[in-house]
Amino acid sequence: MVIIKNEQQIEKIRNASKLAAQVLRYLEPYIIQGTNTDHLNDLAHKFIISHQAIPSPLNYHGYPKSICTSLNNIVCHGIPSKKQILKNGDIVNVDITVTLDGFFGDCSRTYIIGEVNQEILNFVRVSEEAMMKGIELLKPGILLSQMGRFIEQYVIPFGYSVVREYGGHGVGLAFHEDPHVCHFYTKENDIQLKKGMIFTVEPMINMSKNWRVNTSRKDGWTVSTADNSLSAQFEHTVLITETGHEILTLP
Ligand code: MF3
Ligand code: CO
Ligand code: CO
Repeated sequence: MVIIKNEQQIEKIRNASKLAAQVLRYLEPYIIQGTNTDHLNDLAHKFIISHQAIPSPLNYHGYPKSICTSLNNIVCHGIPSKKQILKNGDIVNVDITVTLDGFFGDCSRTYIIGEVNQEILNFVRVSEEAMMKGIELLKPGILLSQMGRFIEQYVIPFGYSVVREYGGHGVGLAFHEDPHVCHFYTKENDIQLKKGMIFTVEPMINMSKNWRVNTSRKDGWTVSTADNSLSAQFEHTVLITETGHEILTLP
C-alpha cells in the first residue's frame, strides 16, 4: 500500500530531506583526491548526530556504516572504508539517508574526482539529466510507470542501461516503503500518482548496454556492474503536490 502523507507528516519529511541534502553539501569539499571514504563516513556521521538526527543506514539490516559510497563500477551500497581512497579520474556516488524526529529523507549524487575524459563527463551528466527530467514529469494523475519508461528511453540512445534489480522507494515514515520505483517500464508501476505520495527517484545507470549487476558474496552489500562498466546515480526524495511535485532533498 502506498501511504498518502498528511500535512504534519510532510512537514517532518521535508525537514529530514532538507537535512540529508545539507549533509551532501557539507561533504562536498571533502570529496576529493586522497580522501578515504571512511573519513567521509565519519564526517557525515558527526554532522548528522550534531543535528539531532540519526544516520538511517547504520545497522539497517546489519549495514555497518552511516552512508554509502559507491565508486566507479560499484552500482550502490558501497561500504565506506579506509582502504577506499578517492583518486584522480574516479566517479563516486555518496548516498545519505537521515532520520529526523522519526521521519526519513534520502538523496545521493555522483561526484567526479579531479579530471575524467569527455565520455565519462557526458555519462555522469546524462545520468543526472535522466533523473531530473524524469522527476519533471511527476504530477497527480499520471502513472508512475510513465517516468520509468521515460528514463529508460532517455539513456538507451547513449548506449547506457538502467539497472533493473534495484530502484527507488516510498520514503518518509520508514526508510523503504511501497511503492518499489522502477526506472524502466513495468506494468507493476502502473500506479496512479496522488497528492501526498512521497518516494525517491534514483536511477542507477550503467555505462554499457548491460544492466546486470552482482552483489558481493564477501560483504553481502556491495553491488557492482556485471561487466565492470562504470555506474552513476543521482537520487532525490520527491513529494507529489496538488499541481505537480516538490523535490524535498534540496539544501
Ligand atoms: N540510501 C539507499 C537508498 O537509496 C539505501 C541504502 S541501504 C543501506 O535506498 F543499508 F545500504 F544503507
Ligand atoms: Co539513498
Ligand atoms: Co533511496
